[in-house]
Amino acid sequence: MLIRDAIEDDAQQISDLLIDSARVFFADDFSKAGMALFIDDCAPTTLQERIRAGDRYYVAIVDDVIAGVCAIRRGNYLYSLFTDAEFHRRGVARKLWERALRDIRESGYEEVTVKASNYAVPAYERLGFVCTGPREEEKGIVSNPMRYRLPVK
Ligand SMILES: CC(C)(COP(=O)(O)OP(=O)(O)OC[C@H]1O[C@@H](n2cnc3c(N)ncnc32)[C@H](O)[C@@H]1OP(=O)(O)O)[C@@H](O)C(=O)NCCC(=O)NCCS
Repeated sequence: MLIRDAIEDDAQQISDLLIDSARVFFADDFSKAGMALFIDDCAPTTLQERIRAGDRYYVAIVDDVIAGVCAIRRGNYLYSLFTDAEFHRRGVARKLWERALRDIRESGYEEVTVKASNYAVPAYERLGFVCTGPREEEKGIVSNPMRYRLPVK
């Protein structure tokens, strides 16, 4: 498995992965409007703009395809962590997270936050995150606030 920074040409594949995954894993929790907002937010042009603007997008490559994606916005906000369903439970998310965490640590941050999907809470707990509040719902999008504290050196 190779972990590398995403480039603008990856945007279509990343978008497909995010949307396919959301349809399977978020559909029971999000309203129709929430799903529409999520899908809109995953447009390839939007992803390209974010990559250009300096958000950190990482991709995991397995057998020449993008098996997972991780995005860090505003330095220490974990915006996306998605593994293609075909590659679940093979360490893809952990590898992406370890790579992102390395860069976050080098930038001097002391914590990372995420708004986790219901499905992903146990996986984030395995990665070292803890829930910091009750489940939230905004515009039909359901999430769970979680935080990872970087070990003090
Ligand atoms: C959450 C998700 C990214 C995990 O990806 P993955 O590549 O399968 O995860 P990994 O194989 O790297 O597993 C990382 C750890 O989480 C655990 N884990 C993964 N999926 C899990 C699950 N469904 N339930 C419980 N634990 C899980 C693994 O056992 C592993 O822990 P360990 O290394 O201590 O044994 C993936 O399930 C996914 O894409 N889900 C749908 C999209 C989503 O909800 N993303 C989060 C958006 S906020």
